[in-house]
Amino acid sequence: MTWDLGYTRSDTAVITSENGNLDLYVLEEESLTELARSFRRLTGRSYLPPRWAFGYIQSRWGYASETEVRTVAAEHRKRGIPLDGVCLDIDYMEDFRNFTWRKDAFPDLKHFSEDMKRDHIRLIPIIDAGIRQEEGYEPYDSGKAGGFFCKKEDGSDFTAAVWPGVCCFPDFLREDARRWFGDLYRPLLEAGIEGFWNDMNEPALFYTEKQVDEAFRRAGEVRSGSVDYEAMWRLKDAFNSLPNNMDDYRSFRHEIGGRPVRHDLVHNLYGAGMTRAAADGFRRIRPGERLLLFSRSSFIGAHRNGGIWQGDNFSWWSHLKMAVQMLPGLNLCGFLYTGCDLGGFGCNVTEDLLERFLQLGVFTPLMRNHSALHTREQEIYRFSIWETMRDTVSVRYALLPYLYSEFMKAALRDEMLFRPLAFDYPADRRAVHTQDQLMLGGDCMIAPVYEQNAAGRYVYLPEDMLLIRFRSAKDYDLVPLEKGDHWIDLALGEFPLFVKKNRAVPLCPGGESSELLDDTAFTLLGQIEKEGVLELYRDDGRTTSPDLESGLTRITLVPDNSLTRKVKV
Ligand code: GLC
Repeated sequence: MTWDLGYTRSDTAVITSENGNLDLYVLEEESLTELARSFRRLTGRSYLPPRWAFGYIQSRWGYASETEVRTVAAEHRKRGIPLDGVCLDIDYMEDFRNFTWRKDAFPDLKHFSEDMKRDHIRLIPIIDAGIRQEEGYEPYDSGKAGGFFCKKEDGSDFTAAVWPGVCCFPDFLREDARRWFGDLYRPLLEAGIEGFWNDMNEPALFYTEKQVDEAFRRAGEVRSGSVDYEAMWRLKDAFNSLPNNMDDYRSFRHEIGGRPVRHDLVHNLYGAGMTRAAADGFRRIRPGERLLLFSRSSFIGAHRNGGIWQGDNFSWWSHLKMAVQMLPGLNLCGFLYTGCDLGGFGCNVTEDLLERFLQLGVFTPLMRNHSALHTREQEIYRFSIWETMRDTVSVRYALLPYLYSEFMKAALRDEMLFRPLAFDYPADRRAVHTQDQLMLGGDCMIAPVYEQNAAGRYVYLPEDMLLIRFRSAKDYDLVPLEKGDHWIDLALGEFPLFVKKNRAVPLCPGGESSELLDDTAFTLLGQIEKEGVLELYRDDGRTTSPDLESGLTRITLVPDNSLTRKVKV
C-alpha cells in the first residue's frame, strides 16, 4: 500500500493498494474522542500489563552475564534509584539463538530470577523473530518438522541473515505455527520470567544470499571499468539496500487458509502475529496471569495482546520531541502500554538529554532506559547529576498508583490515555494547533521540555490549571495559573504537570519498587473550588479480568483554600 499524505497535494490523502484490494471502514462520530472510542470498540480492548510493568526498567544491549545484571541492580538499590525490571538483550542467549540462555553466564536462571524478584526486580528477556537454521537446535528442528517456516516459491524454506546467522522465519499468520512458537516460551516462563520484549519482527532482514550476490555483481561492474557519473550511487545503493530489501520481502510466502500469500502483501501483520503467538502462549501456559509483553513491530488489533516500544531512536533532542508526538497516534490505535527508549538507543547521550528524557518517561506507561552496544553507558548512576535523575524517577513512583489508575480506566473504558489538546478543546483554535503538549488521563496535561539549554518553555493552558513544578516526589512548587499563554521556568531538574481546576492528583509516599508502594495514604494536590470526585482504580495488578466498578474508590474533593491535603483510602 502507498499512503500519500499530503505529498502530491498538501490537502489530500491518497491511499493506493497495489493489488486493488482495500477494505475501508468509515467511522462517523460527533467528536474526536467518540471517534477514538468507536475505533477501539471495533478493534478490541487494550492489553493490560501487570502493575510492576509501570516501574522503572533499566536496559542495555550488552548485559552479558548474571554478575553484570546483579551489579546494575545493586547500583540502583545502593543509591536509592527506584527499579522494577532489567531487560536482557540478545547477549543472554547462546549465539543469539532464541529460547536458549548461556549456561556459562547464567548458570541457574531460575535461581537468579527468583533472587531478583525477592528484591522486587524482574528480568525481561528479548525474543527475536528469526529462528537459526541449525539441525540439532530444538526450535529449528520442531519448526522444520511442523513445516512452520515461511517458504520461497519453490517450496524451500526462506532464509536470511539476522543476529544468529542464517535464520528461518516462523509463519505467524498460521494458527498452528503460532501455537508452536508460543509454546517455545515455556522454559523461560518455568524459569520464573514474567515479561518479554519481542524484537526484529518486521521481520528485519540483514541480507539474503541473493542480494549479496547482486551487490557484488554491481561492484564487479564498477571494478571492470564501467564507470559513469551514476556508478557511485549504484554501488552505494547495492550495499545499502541489502537490509530489509523489497525484493526479498516479495520472494517468500505465507500460508493462509491453505493458500500461499506473498509476504509483502501482508508484511505489517508479521509482528502482530508474533505478538499474538506469544500472548496466546502465555494464556495457555500461565492462565489468569498478566505478563509483560511489548513488541517492536505490530499492527491494528495486536494492541489486544501487548504493548509496543517506539523503536530504535537516537540520543537526539529532536527524537525526544518526536517521542511526545508519537504517543497520541499509538494511543489512538489502542497501544496504551508504550514509551520510547529513554536517553535514546543510538548515539551517545548527554546528561541533560537523559534527564529531560526521564522527565517524559515519568508519565509514559513503559518507562525504560535503553541504549545500544558501543554507545556511552547510559544507566542513571553513570552521570554526575544522578541524584537529580533519581529524584525524577522518584516522582514516577509517587505518581504510580495514580498513573496506573488512569491507565486502567482508559483501557477498560476504551479511551486514550494521551490525547492531543484538539480532542478535549476542539473549539479552541490555540489548543487545536498545540503540538507539544498532551492531555493525560482525565485530569492532567503534560508539557515536556525538549530543547537543550532551555531554562523553561512556553505552555498554553486551555483552561485554568494548577502547575505542579516537580523536583522530586517531596519537593515541588504549586502555582495556580489562568487559561492562556505562560512562560514556565523549568531548570534542568524541574518538570511540570498541569492539573485542571477542581481535580486532584494523588501522590503516594513513593518507594524503590512498585511492590513496595503504599496506595492507601496520599497527598492530594489540586485547586478545589467546588466539590468533585477523584476516582482511583486499584487492584492486585495481576488479575486478568479486572472489574472497573469494583476497583474504583471514589474520593470526595472538598472545596478549601489549601492546594494540598492528606487522605487515607
Ligand atoms: C534492535 C532492537 C534494540 C536491541 C537490538 C539488539 O535494534 O530494536 O532495542 O537492543 O536490536 O537486540
